[in-house]
Amino acid sequence: MCGIVGYIGPREAYPIIITGLKRQEYRGYDSTGVALINHHLQVYKKKGKVAELEESLIGKAVSAHIGIGHTRWATHGEPSDRNAHPHTSASGKLAMIHNGIIENYGQLKQELLNKGYKFSSETDTEVLLNFIEEIKNNNKCSLEEAIRIALKRVAGAYVILLLDADNPDTIIAARKGSPLVIGIGKGEHFLGSDATPMLEYTKEVVYVNDYEVAIVKADELILKNLGNERQTPYITKLDMELAAIEKGGYEHFMLKEIFEQPHTIYDCLRGRLDAKEGTITMKGVQDNIEQLTNASRIIIVACGTSWHAGLIAEYVIEELCRIPVEVEYASEFRYRNPIVNKGDVIIAISQSGETADTLVAIEKAKENGAIIFGIVNVVGSSIARISHAGAYTHAGPEIGVASTKAFTAQLVVLIMMALKIAKEKDTISEEYYSKLLFELEDVPEKVASLLKNADELKIIAKKYKNSNDALFLGRGYNFPVALEGALKLKEISYIHAEGYPAAEMKHGPIALVDEKLPVVFVATKDAYHAKIISNIQEIKARKGKVIAIISEGDEIIPSMADDVFAVPLADEIIAPIISVIPLQLLSYYMGVAKGCDVDKPRNLAKSVTVE
Ligand code: F6R
Repeated sequence: MCGIVGYIGPREAYPIIITGLKRQEYRGYDSTGVALINHHLQVYKKKGKVAELEESLIGKAVSAHIGIGHTRWATHGEPSDRNAHPHTSASGKLAMIHNGIIENYGQLKQELLNKGYKFSSETDTEVLLNFIEEIKNNNKCSLEEAIRIALKRVAGAYVILLLDADNPDTIIAARKGSPLVIGIGKGEHFLGSDATPMLEYTKEVVYVNDYEVAIVKADELILKNLGNERQTPYITKLDMELAAIEKGGYEHFMLKEIFEQPHTIYDCLRGRLDAKEGTITMKGVQDNIEQLTNASRIIIVACGTSWHAGLIAEYVIEELCRIPVEVEYASEFRYRNPIVNKGDVIIAISQSGETADTLVAIEKAKENGAIIFGIVNVVGSSIARISHAGAYTHAGPEIGVASTKAFTAQLVVLIMMALKIAKEKDTISEEYYSKLLFELEDVPEKVASLLKNADELKIIAKKYKNSNDALFLGRGYNFPVALEGALKLKEISYIHAEGYPAAEMKHGPIALVDEKLPVVFVATKDAYHAKIISNIQEIKARKGKVIAIISEGDEIIPSMADDVFAVPLADEIIAPIISVIPLQLLSYYMGVAKGCDVDKPRNLAKSVTVE
């Protein structure tokens, strides 16, 4: 969480930083701040979103050729002006922004308090900054040296960017655990938590590694490890266009990303799936096919929406490949003492590739000798880099905080992977394999077709927008879809929602049902269709309001449900990719109808780089 931006070079730094921060607001939007050097150090910061800071600075002299900026997701200290970054050191000469958590900040703070330091914020950032300055003064060393010494004492995750009023031609940055990208221009450098702030200026970037310190001047980039040894910057070419991170005429990024799904699913399949030839080309899977087919067990680690993709994959892999699968919350896996045996394969799923809990879970499994397969959307992200092998989802940048297109792309990758393993293991019939390949190829068209009827969901959303609660029910492959629908609704519209296996409802949640409760059934045609019809009857018998996602041609459910939305028919393994989309739309329209900030829901951040 938190977005960081930096610029040094001949251009005006302030507009680059403000635009970069707006693009990174998905990482947090509790407060914003910038620090610039023009003769002297200037710091402007404010509670609220980037636009509010920008507004407050109209008419101020913000001209500078070096600067840093921050958009915050609060960890230590409430969102407020004084807790906003950048923080300044006791001397007033250093300014620092930080993404991450300094776990031992309490101890460092006490040391500084004993020396007479005073703090104007509650943040761990101000503590670390003054700790660095104390070392600099005490050891009479350079800022760079002081940072190295300080970071050896720091426990936790961080990316820090520092400005020094006495050295107005240098930004110093360091990272451990949180992402840092440096864009290389001609006589200029750009820094960001991701590559979006630099997209229109350069396609050449360096992903800084853990425990590296970057000394960034306009025309020079030096990377060193904490032992002061020079590291060679590895330059990567960015494969992302500016249009991909703009709204393109849609009212919100979330809506744009939902509507992009025919293309993102197609992009995910393109070059990999050839139904006519009966082939799936996935290099990461092919290179590790022996470990995957012989895996005694697959453990999937992920968080949130990505965890829901993992749950669907559990059903698919067990069905097609006959390999036992466990799906773990990364945050739980990392802290217990999980049994990971030789021969186990870990699949880590993450849109951002930066989720702290998933990263640490991978490290833990790696220590136990497991093979890590990463399914990640953001190219060059930390999870992509620390996995042994993997597959990108190619959904393009996902800016809306709620995950939509990344989820469907994750499902496509996981299903292709399962099909490839099943084919190799001979646990799937030729006929079913071929059927599923052709069905996968048809998904973009089916999604495009259901999106044409999106307005029907707008009407349904308006009808139920004042509900306090909602229940989402599904069976089999559609059970995790119900969980995902409930998560989307609560994060976007703040309506309390719960997802359950439809049959489990009788064991408790049915007590909630009354004439006001909307119950969303994911009831596309599959092996459980007759069973879910009985569950719908049970809700209707108790006067609950039923909204059903059904398959086109279903003539039974419309006669009993209050509202229905039909999606094209698909095999039950493929169906979740399609049936989740009306639920994304429903939560979007509910959020809009309630006046919620759907792209930036309260308290959330897209990239959860703290545990
Ligand atoms: C929900 C959502 C989150 C993320 C979760 C994991 O809409 O976006 O639940 O899915 O924070 O993030 P990644 O996939 O980036 O690891």
